[in-house]
Amino acid sequence: MPLLTPNADMPFNITRISHVVLTSRDLNATRFFYEAGLGLEVTFHDDERLALRGIEEQSMFSLLFERVADDGPGTCRSVGYRMFTDDDLKCAHDWFHARGIAAQFIDRPFQGLTLRITDSVGVPVEFCASMDQKPNRMRQFHTHGGGKLVYLDHIQIATHNIQSAYGFYNDLGFRLAEYTATDGTDEVWGVWLKRKNNTQDVVYANGAGPRLHHFAYHTPEIANVVHGADVMSSLGLAGTMDRAPGRHGIGNAFFIYYRDPDGHRVETFTSHYNVIDVDHEPTRWDLSDLRRSQLWGFPAPRKWFNEATCFEDTPVHPPVLDAPPVTLEDFLEGWSQ
Ligand SMILES: [Fe+2]
Repeated sequence: MPLLTPNADMPFNITRISHVVLTSRDLNATRFFYEAGLGLEVTFHDDERLALRGIEEQSMFSLLFERVADDGPGTCRSVGYRMFTDDDLKCAHDWFHARGIAAQFIDRPFQGLTLRITDSVGVPVEFCASMDQKPNRMRQFHTHGGGKLVYLDHIQIATHNIQSAYGFYNDLGFRLAEYTATDGTDEVWGVWLKRKNNTQDVVYANGAGPRLHHFAYHTPEIANVVHGADVMSSLGLAGTMDRAPGRHGIGNAFFIYYRDPDGHRVETFTSHYNVIDVDHEPTRWDLSDLRRSQLWGFPAPRKWFNEATCFEDTPVHPPVLDAPPVTLEDFLEGWSQ
């Protein structure tokens, strides 16, 4: 399948990734991990909900946890994008219905008009154009702690049908910034898709899915990413590190990944770059080129590839494409010989 022509003729405007809604078995433990450890700000906390955001975020939250009583692994209830205005939401409602995609307006805490759909690979997606506003901590430098995370930058989702996801979001006006493909072909394995100025709002990558692989917060300094790890260590949370520091070839990100108390994976990173101009061609990475995953640093452990957060009440399908990743375990086996 050749790369798709970007759709520049959208009747409504999706502006960016906005938020993620996740379950938590213990909101206090979740709060300790994200507030004391990684340095996010708590904007709301009661017996049922915990809302968090980064230093530059003016809206009420980019991460919302809802308490659950069961002992099972955490789930994702929805991923959220912003549209520019309520008129965009109303236009999108009709646009989805005209294409046979169920779309309904729903009530959500802290949000204005909100439209919910399920995307072509089973992900519950919600759009809103407004959210309660509260002055941020950008100039309150004495409050910046942990990893000094400034905003939610992107999410990554594992999908069993990468072509379907790519087509769906291309139709919605998302542009391809980078992609992985089988050597010598344009059979895509992963697509880095963007609406805002940089490389990605959402990544769809081949795998058992749909599952939320991770969500990622940006910080402007490598030192902040490392300081976050130091703080996690001094709080007894070093064991939550899921992937050690390294630099992705794709997106150029310097990263560290963690797993929160419910198993949700969060990436702290810096160093994405601008993708704006229409003649900026997507960057291609051959599947065999392991620099796409790390320019330097160890490969990810097997669990990084295999474990992810399920979407609530959503079945997981085996991937259409199949190729085993090169894991840290594989690498160390070769390294020790
Ligand atoms: Fe990421």
